Amino acid sequence: MSNILVISGHPDLSQSYTNTVILNQLKQARSDIHVRDLASLYPDSKVDVAAEQAALLEAEVIVLQFPFYWYSVPGIMKQWMDDVLTYGFAYGSTGDKLKGKKLIISTTIGGPEASYSAEGYNQYTVEQLLYPLHQTAKLAQLEWQAPLISHGMIYIPGVYNSQAEVEAKAQQHAERLLDQIEALLPAEHGQIKQFVTDWFRKLDTLEQDVTPYLPHLADNVVFEVPEGRFEGHDGFEVWYRQLRGLFQPGCQHQVEPLMIESLGEGRFDLRFDVTLSAKSHHGESLSVNASEHWQLVLSQGGVKIQYYSVSVS
Ligand SMILES: Cc1cc2nc3c(=O)[nH]c(=O)nc-3n(C[C@H](O)[C@H](O)[C@H](O)COP(=O)(O)O)c2cc1C
Repeated sequence: MSNILVISGHPDLSQSYTNTVILNQLKQARSDIHVRDLASLYPDSKVDVAAEQAALLEAEVIVLQFPFYWYSVPGIMKQWMDDVLTYGFAYGSTGDKLKGKKLIISTTIGGPEASYSAEGYNQYTVEQLLYPLHQTAKLAQLEWQAPLISHGMIYIPGVYNSQAEVEAKAQQHAERLLDQIEALLPAEHGQIKQFVTDWFRKLDTLEQDVTPYLPHLADNVVFEVPEGRFEGHDGFEVWYRQLRGLFQPGCQHQVEPLMIESLGEGRFDLRFDVTLSAKSHHGESLSVNASEHWQLVLSQGGVKIQYYSVSVS
């Protein structure tokens, strides 16, 4: 499973120039990112502890995304910590429910970097100011990751920065965060992504020879595709011939975010969208949007597809 939980502590995202950009970019980039916007979930600050703990239990990577307020987290995020990180859940002799989960602190800070030093007007480094969060993570047995910090993120028209400036920095912040998340996910995810990329690159060429595909298909593989239901290697060959009859070689498959879930014992469930741009043999340009659902097995011998479904919207 790759479940990335992002807890947003901004008190009002409708007034945000940077956190809102970061959150939108995260959601667009990966469908396995779940964002919980505390301020909109709990406008009365009454946190649903059971729902929050359930979301944490599901997560592999936890991101606390917030604007730095008075050298700390905004009030709603502190409320969330006070209510959710309870004895027996996050700490205490049986409070090991967060053990081993990875925690990324991701924060936007108004003041410039130089101000956060012994010589600067903020006196302390951000690292020092984050000590309470660092120790919270330690007590809860969370795995502390390098915090992601962007400075100079305040926009007050005519006073501090320009909107375009802070938005551009927010985009860069989101990209760095996505890279950090990616690096924390199991190596299998990278292998599967590469396999999917290679698969569609091959399918783009629609070469006559079907043999390069066969080592990646389980003997009893099932295809449920718009052209029908096909089984086994022979079934794949029939379907592949139909595709070659429909489209000219040199088409393009564009894969949108890939959701990878581990089913255990090397089996994985994949869901993603694909846009196919192709030409028919009559020279007509076609664009097809499809949702795909695959199941595959990853072993030392590589990847084998067991189930492959395509539905066209
Ligand atoms: C109540 C409040 C407290 C703030 N405290 C700090 C602070 O202690 N240090 C700092 O550098 N910036 C501080 N700022 C600036 C915010 O960090 C900055 O505006 C925010 O990160 C921008 O995020 P947004 O565009 O998503 O609202 C504060 C802003 C507000 C509104």
